[in-house]
Amino acid sequence: MKTEITRPEAGVNYAVITPQNADQALNSVDKQDVIAAFREHGAILFRGFPLDHESFHALAAAYCSNFIVNRARGRENVSPDRRIQTVNLGHEAFPLHPEMSSMPTRPDIAWFACKSPPLVGGETLLCDGIAVVAGLSEQTRELLLERSFRYRTRMTPEDCELWLGSKHPEATALAGLDEHCPLDITIEDGVFYSTYTTPALHKPMFSDQYAFGSFLLFARNMQGWKDFPTFEDGSEVPAAVCDELKQVSDTLSVAHQWQAGDVLMVDNTRFLHGRNFVLNSKQRVIWTQFGYAAFIPGLDTLLATQPWRRTTPKH
Ligand SMILES: [Fe+2]
Repeated sequence: MKTEITRPEAGVNYAVITPQNADQALNSVDKQDVIAAFREHGAILFRGFPLDHESFHALAAAYCSNFIVNRARGRENVSPDRRIQTVNLGHEAFPLHPEMSSMPTRPDIAWFACKSPPLVGGETLLCDGIAVVAGLSEQTRELLLERSFRYRTRMTPEDCELWLGSKHPEATALAGLDEHCPLDITIEDGVFYSTYTTPALHKPMFSDQYAFGSFLLFARNMQGWKDFPTFEDGSEVPAAVCDELKQVSDTLSVAHQWQAGDVLMVDNTRFLHGRNFVLNSKQRVIWTQFGYAAFIPGLDTLLATQPWRRTTPKH
């Protein structure tokens, strides 16, 4: 069946795929066409397809090798395996962020599906991190190209289980750390800390251009945190840099107005997302899934060195 794809146009930064008839299943869209559009544009809206738990579950499974459960508070589980969750059920507007970008287990694809749209407000914001870098001043771009962000945090029992094999590990567990572990783990006064250091600008999985996408704007503008992330040497990211990143990314953001049945497939290594203030959180029903792309370049190597791509975490 021919795939109807509309390229990003006038005020929209995602491609749109629509069905050939009202009964066409989400999962019946030609997979190679979807992958080609996703690689090029980084975000796709499926609009007009029938949507329920099963079809959303099956669509994501066709493109992902594994999934990660978001442990942030304020969400509810939708599917028994916890793969489908609601978005945060509060009202707050959320600054732009890639999902779970303070961790090396950041998912490749963020899926959003709308069961019930908000009548007013509550738009999901989408921003292309490649466009953000292109919009920065030369000075800021050069600065960020030279720096990395550092996320240092006290490990939760769940973190300890994931990386050290036990919720309450002994100090000797450090000696058995996997050689590919992307975290620097230390023990201070008997407490385990992890440090994740990652370039301030990075190349998304399907691009040779640099993108901005980190927890920085959410940390500064939502949490008020100045120490998560810091630069790689522990120094604070200057307020002027944060302000410029916010101003440029806000200008580039597209506010997606949800319709019932909409599904967004977003490259979480390239795009940031956020949301406008939610007026009625009962009416706004958005489901999510966060997965690892089964069509990422170098999959075999990644499967060997990044076990979360093939093994569902136990928590
Ligand atoms: Fe999010």
